[in-house]
Amino acid sequence: MEESYFLQLCLKRRSVRRFSERPVEREKLHLCLEAARLAPSADNGQPWRFLVFDQPDKKQALADAVFQGVFAASRHFARAPVLVALLIKESFVINRLGGGAAGTPFQFVDAGIAGEHFVLAAAEQGLGTCWIGWFDTRALLKHLGLKRGYRAVALIAVGYPAEEPAERKPKRKPLAEIAFWNTPPGAKEK
Ligand SMILES: Cc1cc2nc3c(=O)[nH]c(=O)nc-3n(C[C@H](O)[C@H](O)[C@H](O)COP(=O)(O)O)c2cc1C
Repeated sequence: MEESYFLQLCLKRRSVRRFSERPVEREKLHLCLEAARLAPSADNGQPWRFLVFDQPDKKQALADAVFQGVFAASRHFARAPVLVALLIKESFVINRLGGGAAGTPFQFVDAGIAGEHFVLAAAEQGLGTCWIGWFDTRALLKHLGLKRGYRAVALIAVGYPAEEPAERKPKRKPLAEIAFWNTPPGAKEK
């Protein structure tokens, strides 16, 4: 397992909350977006939309709009060189009919997968990222003038990390607590 390139990449990715002022090259962001574009999705619906803010005034205006009130705790993310808004364009058929019948919010699942492709592609290129869920989703859509047909999923902060990561083992539950073979959690193995 130690030799797995993919596991190494998973370990390399960690949430970065302090960024250097070094601008992020557009080519690197393009590669992240391409990785996201290749993600799988329910019925191949590809509901994700990535809005990249790398222009300081536009990024600041976005941050001012969404990190207000109780969400001010996230205001420090305005200092990331890039903020990406991850949205979904709602599809009645996939989300309401398909997802509704199955009881699964497919489009949010899809966006999560695409977002993580983006984030892992960033890590591969030496960029730091942080998923941000603590922001005003309604204010985001209002700020963007997208009231109908869109939902906000997350923001992703992107930039070069301010400091080298300390060697660390990510805090994760042991496999035995999250993975089960042939028997559901809590059931006695036969
Ligand atoms: C959907 C989602 C929302 C998150 N929202 C925030 C957030 O608002 N602020 C923050 O500092 N970190 C946020 N995080 C980062 C998590 O805190 C982080 O992934 C977790 O603690 C594990 O640490 P690691 O990413 O460094 O491995 C979020 C992560 C995810 C996946």
